[in-house]
Amino acid sequence: MSFPSKFNPHANKAKLLEEYKGKKLSELPTPSFVVDRATFQQNCEKMLLNAKRLKADFRAHVKTHKTEEGTILQLGSGDSKTKKIVVSTLAEAWGLVPLMQQDKIDDVLFSLPVVKSRLAELAELNRQVPHLRLMLDNKEQLDVLADFSKNNGGQKWSIFIKMNMGTNRAGFEENTALDETLHELLLTPVREYVSLYGFYCHAGHSYAAQTGAEAKSFLVQEISSGNAACKKAMEIDPSLKLQLSVGATPTAHASGELEVSSVGQLYGQLELHAGNYPFCDLQQMSTHCISLDQVSCRVLAEVLSAYPGRGNLSPGEQLVNAGVIALAREFGPQSGHGAITSPEGYGNWIVGRLSQEHGILTPLEEGKDTKMIPLGTQVQIVPQHSCITASAYPWYFIIENSDVVVDIWVPFTGW
Ligand SMILES: Cc1ncc(COP(=O)(O)O)c(C=O)c1O
Repeated sequence: MSFPSKFNPHANKAKLLEEYKGKKLSELPTPSFVVDRATFQQNCEKMLLNAKRLKADFRAHVKTHKTEEGTILQLGSGDSKTKKIVVSTLAEAWGLVPLMQQDKIDDVLFSLPVVKSRLAELAELNRQVPHLRLMLDNKEQLDVLADFSKNNGGQKWSIFIKMNMGTNRAGFEENTALDETLHELLLTPVREYVSLYGFYCHAGHSYAAQTGAEAKSFLVQEISSGNAACKKAMEIDPSLKLQLSVGATPTAHASGELEVSSVGQLYGQLELHAGNYPFCDLQQMSTHCISLDQVSCRVLAEVLSAYPGRGNLSPGEQLVNAGVIALAREFGPQSGHGAITSPEGYGNWIVGRLSQEHGILTPLEEGKDTKMIPLGTQVQIVPQHSCITASAYPWYFIIENSDVVVDIWVPFTGW
């Protein structure tokens, strides 16, 4: 059977290392995407400790970096480790099959609700890993799964039911549609093919939190909503052993502060999931759950031109070679699509506007004695939303506590 990811181009890591290992950032071509491995690893270790403190399992979402090397750091080692991941694409899952074969990953959740056109591929993936979970947020998806199973040797599926936490992206509300789905799943012959693993709550709108306390209240909402759904399912079938999976990077950051007992009796085994936290970005900084030194990634770009007096703020505007493709047109509470963090002394510049390959630097505020950046200067930019930004790069340059390239990570791009 042929899957799309078999045809995805994948840069040659060995050749890239021959060319770039040992080079300084100042010697790299721009635009480039750079990751500090030490910061990435600290972010991963901290999150595993948060989960341990909560007595929760941890499920690492790999969509942010899509690499084997990054996943290994997310999975951790020693006392704090996990074998559970979430993938946003099947390309990520296929790329990580070697880690499944080494028993470093034994549980994979494909995060989108049932995709009929990829079920044959998912059934094949299920043969590579002890546990594959699918996401369900509509009763009709049960019929899609059962129909596939009837025609394909009785394939069994394990599912999370996705709850809509208010982000209005996907998921059930706590209403009759959920009740009807639970009845069909737990009380009809569909149960021969589909079993309920747990409930999944992802408060994407927790990115609007401006403080750790606000992020924590979103986490409590995630737990309460998933818990109510677990209780509902157990009223139908008291023998169920359910997983209560919660998290988004802001709520997962805040989980270090939560006393779970304050939420009351839990009807499922708590599981924390998060994805953006190894990189972080301006959006995470705006939640005030992290600071700049916890952001492990940067876009490297070069100042190409200057337009003194242009625009509303002095000293004018400048041009960099990181446009929408290299940076992503993402927004956040802080203005702009990215902020200049290096070299020092230019912290009032943001990426104010973008077109395909052009990034326009504008001053963030008036009256900061903002200096023009000399043409040819290499600047470092923290993007608003690193998951989207990283997906534009065929490889990432890896540094560690210095400005020298120590490794190259090649992401599993495509679908
Ligand atoms: C289904 C699902 N789970 C988890 C996450 C992880 O969220 P975050 O990147 O905020 O940690 C996402 C992100 O979009 C998601 O879509």
